[in-house]
Amino acid sequence: MHKKLFIPGPVEVSQDVLDKMSTPMIGHRSKDASALQRGISEKLRVVFQTKEEILLSTTSGSGLMEGAIRCCTVKRAAVFSIGAFGKRWYEMALNNNVPADLFEVGFGEITDPKFVDEVLSTGRYDLITITHNETSTGIMNPVEEIAKVIKKHPNVVWCLDTVSSMAGTDIPVDELGVDICITSSQKALGLPPGLAACSFSKKAIERAKKVPFRGYYLDLLQLYEFIQKKDYQYPSTPSLSHMFALDFALDKMLEEGMDNRYKRHIEMAQYVRAWAKKYFDIFGDEKYLSNTVTTIKNTRGISVADLNKKLGERGFQIANGYGALKEKTFRIAHMAECSVSDIKELIENINQILNL
Ligand SMILES: Cc1ncc(COP(=O)(O)O)c(C=O)c1O
Repeated sequence: MHKKLFIPGPVEVSQDVLDKMSTPMIGHRSKDASALQRGISEKLRVVFQTKEEILLSTTSGSGLMEGAIRCCTVKRAAVFSIGAFGKRWYEMALNNNVPADLFEVGFGEITDPKFVDEVLSTGRYDLITITHNETSTGIMNPVEEIAKVIKKHPNVVWCLDTVSSMAGTDIPVDELGVDICITSSQKALGLPPGLAACSFSKKAIERAKKVPFRGYYLDLLQLYEFIQKKDYQYPSTPSLSHMFALDFALDKMLEEGMDNRYKRHIEMAQYVRAWAKKYFDIFGDEKYLSNTVTTIKNTRGISVADLNKKLGERGFQIANGYGALKEKTFRIAHMAECSVSDIKELIENINQILNL
């Protein structure tokens, strides 16, 4: 039996989007491929709220994260982490011989804008990484406040991980001043995993020109220059199946309207939070809760693994806590094409299993 996914990626994909993955192939050097990929970039610019170029990558989001930190750091990267995915940037830097420092807070906390200002004021850094929505904790960083302090440091390239939030919550990339904003297909965009997208600002382009060894497959400058010359075709053969599906999913998304989409995500989040507060508690700082995933404190000491097994028998799947938070918390994702009634159905089943 298929289990309806309420995990924070991969998410449940609508059948019509899945069907587009089996569109007959076209040549990746054809005019049709150019038109398809050019169209996707135009539509993604609306979703990202940016006038900058969009780069597509046949990798998951981690590919573009690695490419970004490697291609755009000349001096040193300041990596701010509020959980497992924030720390991943640091490991990427170390493994690519990119000088970097890690600034971590405890799970459930946010990145403090004042501290960001202090760190950048040292003048040691020319790139900063921030996690917008930390999927391991269910915390959404106050990016507007963080943006204000980063703007005081115009030589710093800002990389923002919106892997689990873009298209699920309002992120005005240009207004915030983000240089490289990264997302993955398998989260709020509502596609199967395997494709990633980012915005790439002029500042990031100029910076990358100063980095001599940018790798090859994930050389963002090469991707940028190639798509300018070749009308949105990519240097290597991309996952055209994803392109067909993404193009279709973006049409649906824009038809729904981004504001309606964000509203739907907030409604789902509010429903889950209210339920969590009634029967359990919410993990992390309540002022900064994610609109796409809720982390619930296991105050009743239930077996999350057992709950998930029983949910599985009914055709649903939620996520256990991440890493050290396993069994101490569990997570319910509410993103992409998920509706309030899907969430109500899930919660009703949890209530029945737990006799709540
Ligand atoms: C916040 C965040 N950043 C980065 C990643 C890594 O993305 P991917 O699995 O697409 O490489 C994830 C994956 O869950 C994530 O949730």
